[in-house]
Amino acid sequence: MRDYSADYKGSTILVTGGAGAVGGNLCRKLSEMGAEKVIILDDLSSSYEWNIPKADNVNFIEGDILDDEMLKRVFKEQPDYVFHLAAHFANQNSVDNPEKDLNVNGLGILKVLQYAQLVDVERFVYSSSGCGVYGLESKMPFEEHDVSINLHTPYQVTKLLGELYTNYFQNLYDLPIVNARFFNSYGPGEVPGRYRNVIPNFFYWAMNGIPLPITGEGAETRDWTYVGDIVNGLVAMGVEEKAIGEAFNLGSGKDHQVIEMANIVNDLTGNEAGIIYKERRNWDVKTKLLSCVDKANNTLDYEPQMKFKDGLEHVHNWFENNWDNIQKSAEF
Ligand SMILES: NC(=O)c1ccc[n+]([C@@H]2O[C@H](COP(=O)([O-])OP(=O)(O)OC[C@H]3O[C@@H](n4cnc5c(N)ncnc54)[C@H](O)[C@@H]3O)[C@@H](O)[C@H]2O)c1
Repeated sequence: MRDYSADYKGSTILVTGGAGAVGGNLCRKLSEMGAEKVIILDDLSSSYEWNIPKADNVNFIEGDILDDEMLKRVFKEQPDYVFHLAAHFANQNSVDNPEKDLNVNGLGILKVLQYAQLVDVERFVYSSSGCGVYGLESKMPFEEHDVSINLHTPYQVTKLLGELYTNYFQNLYDLPIVNARFFNSYGPGEVPGRYRNVIPNFFYWAMNGIPLPITGEGAETRDWTYVGDIVNGLVAMGVEEKAIGEAFNLGSGKDHQVIEMANIVNDLTGNEAGIIYKERRNWDVKTKLLSCVDKANNTLDYEPQMKFKDGLEHVHNWFENNWDNIQKSAEF
């Protein structure tokens, strides 16, 4: 993948949800690449101020993407690029709060798109979900054309809805959009919590000496993708002309069993409490997930670099270095 620093140097970039797990890593990268200004619009509903990258060219604005005053304020800066990552996250949260999910992920993206169109942005990159848009009938490894309309959570429905909106803005207004379908992101920067992903939660429990609860049999597989690889894919999508109007899987292209991941976490942390098995959650019907990343590879030169065990070691280091803040913030 080529170095995109020259493309972003001197530009103004809006990252909604930039305080979050993926957004924080993206903003750090854009800042290091020499952007003039990286504007983060985030209401901190699932993120923390201590976790936001600090740099002279990063400008954090606390606010809601549903608030027109906030949107006017950030779009007045005439961003060249918009990365729309703000979302009501994720499956269980959406089952518990389906209307909030629709408001933030549905009305939220519509509003951000409307402002992006008004100021004529060079690129609008949307964070869709591979685990969301493919269904039980989609053939594995999932290819971009094989989306499903038989989904199992409101979050999956609204992540797909976001793609329908971006495509509509491209079709009607020629807005240069790209849909990025992340597969199970993991890495430094994700604070554990009730509605967070399994990897940070397992590290948190393991470091507290608690047995790791596997909801299912443990043989289930996921395509865990290191956040640094996802960020590299996003950076390319913001620039490459051939990406416009397209959807791309950003996965690792490899699958690992939940039990394998749990054992590595317990080994790294020295957790002797082991594993316990719990009932599978009723919406959690996809026992296997695996992306095909050929399209992203061919078009964007996307090549996931991180080996799974090394990535988990990076997460462990981040937990050790940020333990006090993590303990203060984690809510279950
Ligand atoms: N993490 C994954 O495995 C994964 C997988 C597929 C897709 N995605 C998508 O990628 C994006 C980033 O995911 P993440 O893991 O960083 O999630 P995250 O929850 O850490 O980040 C989302 C951010 O959006 C903010 N936010 C929520 N509602 C908001 C609102 N109304 N106004 C302003 N900000 C708001 C939150 O405070 C948070 O900082 C999301 O859109 C998510 O749906 C993530």
